[in-house]
Amino acid sequence: MKAYVDDDLCIGCGTCPEVCPEVFHMTDDEIAHAINTDIPEDVLGNAKQACDSCPVDAIDIDD
Ligand code: F3S
Repeated sequence: MKAYVDDDLCIGCGTCPEVCPEVFHMTDDEIAHAINTDIPEDVLGNAKQACDSCPVDAIDIDD
C-alpha cells in the first residue's frame, strides 16, 4: 500500500504529518508529501487515520 497526496487539494493544515509522521511530511511550500515507498505495516493504521482526518480529502491510500 502506498499513500498519495493531491497537492492541488492539500491546504497545508498539517494534520497528516501529526498523525503519521512516518509517512507524511510538510515541504517548504507548506504542502504535504507522502513517502514514495510502501507504507510500513506497523504504521498503516496511522496512515489510514491520517487519510480519514484530512479535511479536504487530499490523501489516497492505494496499492
Ligand atoms: Fe494537506 Fe490534508 Fe495533510 S490538507 S497537510 S494532506 S491532512
